[in-house]
Amino acid sequence: RIAYVNGTYVRHAEAAIHVEDRGYQFADGVYEVCEVRHRFIIDLNRHLDRLGRSLHELAIGWPMSRAALVHVIREVLRRNRVRNGLFYLQVTRGVARRDHVFPAADTPPSIVVTAKRTDPGAIARKNTEGISAITVPENRWDRVDIKSIGLLPNVLARQQAKEAGAQEAIFVDADGMVKEGAATNVWIVDREGTLRTRPAESGILRGITRTTLMDVAGPLGLTVEESAFSVEEMLAAREVFITAATSICFPVISVDGKTIGNGHPGSIAQNIREAFFDIAE
Ligand code: PDD
Repeated sequence: RIAYVNGTYVRHAEAAIHVEDRGYQFADGVYEVCEVRHRFIIDLNRHLDRLGRSLHELAIGWPMSRAALVHVIREVLRRNRVRNGLFYLQVTRGVARRDHVFPAADTPPSIVVTAKRTDPGAIARKNTEGISAITVPENRWDRVDIKSIGLLPNVLARQQAKEAGAQEAIFVDADGMVKEGAATNVWIVDREGTLRTRPAESGILRGITRTTLMDVAGPLGLTVEESAFSVEEMLAAREVFITAATSICFPVISVDGKTIGNGHPGSIAQNIREAFFDIAE
């Protein structure tokens, strides 16, 4: 495997970042993860737009031009022979002697791009079997709209899910309303057959998969509503599913040990997933 680190392609095993990188010391950086299907990068432009927004919100500069970054991404995918898989991209405020305030303005941001192949069979199995989730109280900061590498609450929530025999943890706000998963957006198909997900302006990450799903839902004759729903509504929903670049659209068949619908992956999630992959075909 090959990784790109600050200007050079290096063997993955030897890819390293300085101990005084601000990403390492302060989680002072942002990231993106993009899915690759049949060598096609799904939603690359939207991911780069969001990267630009995250960088802007934290006043971190682009590590290189957008066009150069696209070149590096394609090169990393090519060198790793990724047909189906993903790339991970991380930009931090760079290397400087530890100090909370920003380093000198001419400090170059650090950039890392890695890639890995994924097993389409394993993903297909998750889709036919469905996954389980648990709910956890929201305990993150209020700028989760920034795709920051500061993911400790997400890490702890996912681990808690794993220890409970589940695959995702769903953050719930103080009013009992569903926010999003530790690394996914959450959707329901309600009793009226309407697709619902929390408004992106209210304390969640605006997922790229979430946005693209809205594009594909219309032609399928589905109604999408950006409206918050409670844990009770989720438990009573016809279908629950989660979306992210890495999982596209996984059906959730149980939450906190309670069965959703008939306990099997629903047809709407499946139709959406198929429509989604038509984009990459
Ligand atoms: N996570 N919400 C959170 C908190 C996320 O971390 C992610 C993505 C999403 C879905 O966003 P998108 O559709 O753009 O992938 C929602 C990535 C995949 C990760 O951390 O690995």
